[in-house]
Amino acid sequence: MTGPVVLEARGLQKRFGDTPVLQDFSLAVPERQIVALIGKSGAGKSTALRCLNLLERPDAGTLLVDGQTVPTTLTGKALSAHRANVGMVFQHLHLFGHLSALDNIVEAPVHVLGQPRAEAEARARDLLAQVGLQDRAGARVQALSGGQRQRVAIARALCMAPRVLLLDEVTSALDVENIADLQALLHELSDAGTTMVMVTHDLAFVRDGAHRICFMDGGAIIEDGPAHQLLDAPQSERLQAFLGAAGR
Ligand SMILES: Nc1ncnc2c1ncn2[C@@H]1O[C@H](COP(=O)(O)OP(=O)(O)OP(=O)(O)O)[C@@H](O)[C@H]1O
Ligand SMILES: [Mg+2]
Repeated sequence: MTGPVVLEARGLQKRFGDTPVLQDFSLAVPERQIVALIGKSGAGKSTALRCLNLLERPDAGTLLVDGQTVPTTLTGKALSAHRANVGMVFQHLHLFGHLSALDNIVEAPVHVLGQPRAEAEARARDLLAQVGLQDRAGARVQALSGGQRQRVAIARALCMAPRVLLLDEVTSALDVENIADLQALLHELSDAGTTMVMVTHDLAFVRDGAHRICFMDGGAIIEDGPAHQLLDAPQSERLQAFLGAAGR
């Protein structure tokens, strides 16, 4: 799959104290691609996502969105705009349980982007329909199931009209049926034009859920290729060992 590159990281570095976590992390993601970032616990996958969206500041390296360099020192409104452009869905979702699904989704477009409420709500209802929750717009999030909450969190990120969506461990709290539904949803979003980078430990999910897999070790991507190829014919010893340990 080769569309124009939407998001690119070149040589990102990040250390916490004396510990280097990202060392020369480079990744270019074409439009509509679903990239899965895999690797053992502590490999730096979440840190990489957080650096892409500038929740963490890389110490060095370059970030580009649609070919334009994004200064990693951004603050204020420019930083908010970058985070809207590079949306993120977290494992723990960060939803407001006492608010309705609709109110959770329109919160950032109204308060961060300053969109008129009616406009944001119209878009939120379209997104709720897209994720199969058109009937639950008024339901409080705390009354929704785990899978439904996951969908609200994705709709909330999409309401900012991001160029790319980052998803960190979004399958970890879901049962098998919800995981299959989520896989179908991510493919629908990709077909509709959404570009995604997801971090997951679920190799069964990425086999058919991702177009491409990047294997991280030692703070960098050391193997990168089509999902099936990477899982079925790993080239590096480190990936072979990782897949072996994962029981594949
Ligand atoms: N804010 C922080 N301060 C200090 N160290 C951190 C911080 N965030 C992450 N680290 C360290 O960086 C390393 C990579 O963490 P990260 O969360 O990116 O790994 P991961 O690949 O997402 O792991 P997991 O699969 O367990 O989620 C770990 O050693 C972690 O302890
Ligand atoms: Mg993580």
